[in-house]
Amino acid sequence: MAKSYEAIFENNKKWVEAKISDNPEYFHQLAKTQNPEYLYIGCSDSRVTAEDMMGAEPGEVFVHRNVANVINTLDMSSTAVIQYAVEHLKVKHIIVCGHYNCGGVKAAMTSQDLGLLNPWLRNIRDVYRLHQVELDAIEDEAKRYDRLVELNVQEQCINVIKMACVQERYILEEQPVVHGWVFDLRTGKIIDLEIDFEKILKDIQKIYNLTDSDWVMSRKK
Ligand code: CO
Repeated sequence: MAKSYEAIFENNKKWVEAKISDNPEYFHQLAKTQNPEYLYIGCSDSRVTAEDMMGAEPGEVFVHRNVANVINTLDMSSTAVIQYAVEHLKVKHIIVCGHYNCGGVKAAMTSQDLGLLNPWLRNIRDVYRLHQVELDAIEDEAKRYDRLVELNVQEQCINVIKMACVQERYILEEQPVVHGWVFDLRTGKIIDLEIDFEKILKDIQKIYNLTDSDWVMSRKK
């Protein structure tokens, strides 16, 4: 339901009052520090509300959202978010959450010039190319679209696991663990794709190993 601009400030006032009536110290405590266990990376889509669908409160989830939940090492914003979350906040879980009916993924399946979106959605076209045999074998276009959403999540999880800060901290502390989710707008449910984090990490380290585990462990001492 669309709200008027003024209504947002009215809602904010009510929200503040509700929080304070439950706990007069609420904002005093909130201002002190943050200690989230989760980094959530999702799509900018207005229908996919990170904290709301997870039932999470302020302070519980560190959030990054962009068009079609893409992680690319050339994107300073998402890589800075991940590095900060892993090295400073020491999150225990990193979630990459895509969603069915994703406009970004749909756009990447079309043959048209999308201007500035071209280089961004190229990341998803690359996912299609990597999984072209599987995707082209799906005759039903809607099913193919759903599957590309899932494969995009899987590949973006791999992009997170490729990062040195993630590999290094995992050697030291066996966390963060990376999870791939899809939010189903049609049911409201979160689906865990149950990606095998340990196996992906092991497999990709043949190529993307950015850490010398002996060196990492020696620094720990
Ligand atoms: Co989307």
